[in-house]
Amino acid sequence: MTTSLSHTKTLDIGEIGILDEQLPPWDSGPLDLAGWFDPDRRDCPLELEIGSGKGTFLVNQADQTPGTNYIGIEYAKQYWRHAADRCRRHQLTNVKVVRTEADLFVRRYTPPESLRQTHIYFPDPWPKPRHNKRRLIQESFLRSLHTATAPSGLVRIVTDHPDYYEWIEHHADRVADLWRRLPFECPQAAGPGELVGSNFERKYRRQGRPFHAMILEKYPAT
Ligand SMILES: C[S@@+](CC[C@H](N)C(=O)[O-])C[C@H]1O[C@@H](n2cnc3c(N)ncnc32)[C@H](O)[C@@H]1O
Repeated sequence: MTTSLSHTKTLDIGEIGILDEQLPPWDSGPLDLAGWFDPDRRDCPLELEIGSGKGTFLVNQADQTPGTNYIGIEYAKQYWRHAADRCRRHQLTNVKVVRTEADLFVRRYTPPESLRQTHIYFPDPWPKPRHNKRRLIQESFLRSLHTATAPSGLVRIVTDHPDYYEWIEHHADRVADLWRRLPFECPQAAGPGELVGSNFERKYRRQGRPFHAMILEKYPAT
């Protein structure tokens, strides 16, 4: 599918971009996500990035770890197109970018214990108290993500927003029986002096903002 982001740039999502309308009805059960990739990639570990934005982290991470399959989730159509086009131009065969809402995707479409890791970098902070309920990280979301994550699988979270970080800590504490907190370690995409190497990290770093980061590890099955 070829489409235009602006008057000057034509974007091509190729085989990489998947639209929500291509997904089956939300109540039809988990999808065979491994089957979205070439047959020889079926057994590769699967990782999710939620809120891929323009795809800066996704492109670098997928490029540096070719043995892993990645699914980027982005609900803003313009960014979704941009990220998918960018992955296509980098000829990445280990990435799909889906235009959908992340909570729905994790809860309804992701098979149990299928994710080795989920990356959540600079999620929208929804700072007004009356909008806090729109924040991605909620107790119910952490529970759904726990179901979707393989034993000992990880969630990496980074934000620049101190109030949202407190909120994330509070909600992680409420599911402390499911996840244990670990100090942050950088993913492969991070460049020198970076935490993760996403677009927002680079923008906020130039503004001198401090960052807050954690890893949640799913308790291994006993
Ligand atoms: C602040 S931007 C950060 C983008 C990127 N992670 C980075 O660090 O540069 C947050 C992105 O997450 C997307 N987003 C927010 N909530 C989402 C949700 N529930 N499902 C899918 N995408 C979401 C937004 O459209 C936006 O592109």
